[in-house]
Amino acid sequence: MNLSTLRREPRTTRPYEDRRRAEASALLSTVAARAAIAVHGTPVLLLDPGRVQAQYRRLRAALPLVGFHYAVKALAHDAVLDVLDSAGCGFDVATGEELRLLTRRGVAATRIIHTHPIKKPAEIAEALAAGVRVFVVDNEAEIAKFRGAPADTRLLVRLAYRSPHAKSDLSSKFGVGPFEAARLVESALSAGVRVAGFSYHVGSQLDDPPRFAAAAADTLELMGILERRLDVRFDTLDIGGGLPASYDSEAAGIDAIAALLRPVLAPHARRLDIIAEPGRVMVAEAMSLVTSVVGVAERADGRWYYLDDGLYGSYSNVLTEDVHPLVFAERDLGATDARGRRRPPDDHRWATLAGPTCDSSDVVAREVLLPDLQLGDLLISPTMGAYTTVTATRFNGRPFTPVAIVGTWAVPGAAAAVRPAAAPADGLPVAEGQTVP
Ligand SMILES: Cc1ncc(COP(=O)(O)O)c(C=O)c1O
Repeated sequence: MNLSTLRREPRTTRPYEDRRRAEASALLSTVAARAAIAVHGTPVLLLDPGRVQAQYRRLRAALPLVGFHYAVKALAHDAVLDVLDSAGCGFDVATGEELRLLTRRGVAATRIIHTHPIKKPAEIAEALAAGVRVFVVDNEAEIAKFRGAPADTRLLVRLAYRSPHAKSDLSSKFGVGPFEAARLVESALSAGVRVAGFSYHVGSQLDDPPRFAAAAADTLELMGILERRLDVRFDTLDIGGGLPASYDSEAAGIDAIAALLRPVLAPHARRLDIIAEPGRVMVAEAMSLVTSVVGVAERADGRWYYLDDGLYGSYSNVLTEDVHPLVFAERDLGATDARGRRRPPDDHRWATLAGPTCDSSDVVAREVLLPDLQLGDLLISPTMGAYTTVTATRFNGRPFTPVAIVGTWAVPGAAAAVRPAAAPADGLPVAEGQTVP
């Protein structure tokens, strides 16, 4: 047996990581990033709204038949909402708080859908009063809450598609199978509530292009069957979110998924309003986290570096979603050869990266190959835009990590590329890095 084939390829030589390292290097050397670090210190999140805009354009180009509604829950930052609002994107909300974030900035309610399958009656009343008309339901009690709603209200019945290989398989908590779906449509009909169509979520961070197409095809087939059997006509198909982002390896891109979805959706595009609620894919790559080393220790299992952000803060995605953002040491970023590949890491060693809290589960990454780091050394993680600040906590009394705007997209009313983190401008926590225009 050739033992060399069993040896693990040094993770750091993979082309994907080299590319991400080069991007991180370019970002950290910008004036805006340096200014953000100078203003805020670390930890600091660097958000480039221009990348959100570019991602939206990519989605539009790949799936021109689909109307996109950004899932605000992924990153509810003002700059993200502004850039998508100006680009004409719709929005998907899960709560009254998210709805208010949008209505306060003047987003028309006709561009907003409410897709949480379980809502308090007061929340429904508020959304209806604001003018929202598209809602998701997946049980009889929820349908009953819509008795007497305006006639143009469009309910979507949420279907469940199992995706155990998604990082977050949402089907265990929400959605129904085809038989229950048929029963719910009938029950809505007898309650005088209109079911306009169906929605589903294939599971978040689902790196499986055929699954997206299969879920759409299955739903369209079910819609046809129910239309014939119940003598109804549906007009809306909501294909949800789920598109993956690239963390520690390259995930399927928008184009690969769209190429399989287009032929399934195209025959129905004339008669159906086909919508989607992407969150992660819109924002994940638009934000990077800069931390610094605040502690170094030799433990029984080797070198440990303690960072000033962790699982209870911006790296909450590691805890809640089991995703693994790359972590690069600034010291390492310039160490590439003429072709942008990393030079052999002679002086590197495997280390554990821990977060700053007293909790022993606060470990960001293990077995990271790093140079010898000193207190104060900077580290940077790309792909930190989705489900990071929004799920961060203030455990141990630690403040939320500020968000600084970098890149070329101009924040309306802002003179500088870097804006200080502000006090919360509204009901959402400081973690959003809300900036006050
Ligand atoms: C109802 C609904 N829509 C959209 C999304 C966004 O999904 P993703 O970020 O995977 O695109 C989620 C995520 O949990 C969701 O629950």
